[in-house]
Amino acid sequence: MRKPMIAGNWKMYKTRDEALQFLYNVNVQVPNNEYVDTVICAQAPLLRDLVKRQGDYLRIGAQNMHESTEGAFTGEVSAALLQNIGISYVLIGHSERRQYFNETDDSVNQKLHQAFRYGLTAIACVGESLETREANETDTFVENQVKKALNALGSEQVKALVIAYEPIWAIGTGVTATSQQAQDTIAMIRRVIASLYDTDTAQATRILYGGSVKPDNIDELLSMEDIDGALVGGASLSAKNFLKLVEAANK
Ligand code: PGA
Repeated sequence: MRKPMIAGNWKMYKTRDEALQFLYNVNVQVPNNEYVDTVICAQAPLLRDLVKRQGDYLRIGAQNMHESTEGAFTGEVSAALLQNIGISYVLIGHSERRQYFNETDDSVNQKLHQAFRYGLTAIACVGESLETREANETDTFVENQVKKALNALGSEQVKALVIAYEPIWAIGTGVTATSQQAQDTIAMIRRVIASLYDTDTAQATRILYGGSVKPDNIDELLSMEDIDGALVGGASLSAKNFLKLVEAANK
């Protein structure tokens, strides 16, 4: 009942030429988005060109946006502009944004509200550090992140957004959470949504796993009941690998 999603997060990689070559290689092979949502989140200056060449089913996302509508915020990007150039998705609160650019649970919440105002589908990221996991505090930590992120959002909004559970220790390290660890935390997130809203909302909200997802571990991750897809960094840079992930989600 929940449509699977594979979202690539290119981070600060790819020049314009490389990005357009990637689209050229993947476009015709991206499956119908009635069955699987396929998204690439790229650096801001690439977004307009990618939207223009996104093909029938691929959709383009930004990696960040500001929570204000407009203003003196040098270097930032507004939701209004993203909407205006045809962007469909936006990553909110990626752990690298939280770690290096001081994003907080509060700014994540404001950004989610702002994304809704401009019709963007937010992919809200949560996830614990290794220290937190080793202290057995993962559930409490992630629960708190989810509650704060969703503050004052309505159930229809929560159903429409996407949550990405990305344990920080698994991002870019080659260490994937086991499919059971990913399933357990994602099921816990669903229980938190059920307690904040209702079972219907919890069952409708898509929750992705992210952290060293590759063609050789995607099948197992997707076989877990509560995992609806993946947010993928490194492996999304190669058209071949990205397509393999998308194919796995389209089975
Ligand atoms: P990774 O990154 O797939 O390279 O671990 C995931 C992410 O940061 O979204």
